[in-house]
Amino acid sequence: MNIIVTGGAGFIGSNFVHYVYRERPDWHITVLDALTYAGNRANLEGLDPARFTFVEGNITDAALVDRLVAENDAVVHYAAESHNDNSLQNPRPFLDTNIIGTYTILEAVRKHGKRLHHISTDEVYGDLELDDPNRFTENTAYNPSSPYSATKAGSDLLVRAWVRSFGVMATISNCSNNYGPYQHVEKFIPRQVTEILEGRRPKLYGTGEQVRDWIHTEDHSSAVLTILEKGVSGETYLIGADGEKDNKSVIELILKLTGQDPTAYDHVNDRPGHDMRYAIDSTKLRTELGWRPHYTDFEAGLKVTLDWYKDNQAWWKPQKEATETKYKVQGQ
Ligand code: NAD
Ligand code: DAU
Repeated sequence: MNIIVTGGAGFIGSNFVHYVYRERPDWHITVLDALTYAGNRANLEGLDPARFTFVEGNITDAALVDRLVAENDAVVHYAAESHNDNSLQNPRPFLDTNIIGTYTILEAVRKHGKRLHHISTDEVYGDLELDDPNRFTENTAYNPSSPYSATKAGSDLLVRAWVRSFGVMATISNCSNNYGPYQHVEKFIPRQVTEILEGRRPKLYGTGEQVRDWIHTEDHSSAVLTILEKGVSGETYLIGADGEKDNKSVIELILKLTGQDPTAYDHVNDRPGHDMRYAIDSTKLRTELGWRPHYTDFEAGLKVTLDWYKDNQAWWKPQKEATETKYKVQGQ
């Protein structure tokens, strides 16, 4: 197999590249990544050029995408503008990358008859009440809240339309919140641990009662590889590891695991339109494709992740100041 991984220099994409590189030694991986503020070439260091090619380029560049798709067997499409808070400040790049970028990839896989796996998010379903006994399933209606999640929902619908109208061979997965190494310091867990490492207090939006369904990024990778190899074209699979936690508890746990007073955090401005709760029912993926998560102990996985940020300060320091300057303007 020769695969293209778009967005492979970002958080989840780079973790997927390392996972596939290890698990499928006879595959060749081409990463297509524009190296935006969120992409980092250092995430892909140490890979053998015989098995790995890096192409710096934009997924909206139709000629480039067409050439790469023609040369490969499948595309695993991670590239996106991924941060909700940024989409509230400036939605335009989200439309360009998440909508037009996905359209560009769809047109290339259609032309060349190649397989696509589209990476999406549980946020396309909107949010659940805290006491709702239900979780998201593949049949939950789309109801996105933010410009980010609306563009991801739009990209999913484009994929479904290209499958139905043009017979494109594509699968979609919608995953919950990932944690693990190489996640940008703008995101919740890396932001808090790096604030502590900088001698400052973590920052909780609003009341912190919001719930996210955490999954280790390596479990996301194993699920995507399973779907790529065994998934049925036209189908959607939800990926989750039963990891529901409210934000306040996660901040308290981060403080505890880093040897701090668990109450030593600040409440900052809430996110406008803040989704209350995400929760995934991944029964379909587990029963139809036999996938199981490996990291079922959140505290243990979180500890290893916090240690990674402690041991890799040179990786995140260059991004830290600009990120905090941006948050300060927003009162966050
Ligand atoms: P990220 O922001 O860390 O990485 C995105 C990558 O895409 C970066 O390397 C960036 O340079 C690249 N990119 C952005 N625009 C591009 C363009 N126009 N052309 C080429 N490359 C471009 O994001 P992430 O958190 O790793 O998320 C990856 C994917 O997974 C996204 O599609 C996101 O919607 C989805 N997802 C994320 C989560 C999560 O918890 N982070 C959960 C579910 C789904
Ligand atoms: O559910 C999947 C989604 O998870 C992905 O589609 C997105 O790409 C990814 O960014 C993530 O979205 P969230 O908005 O849930 O993640 P974020 O890390 O931004 O925030 C997690 C929660 O923590 C959210 O309720 C907001 C809150 N938060 C965030 C930050 C940055 C804080 O309380 N304080 C903070 O400083």
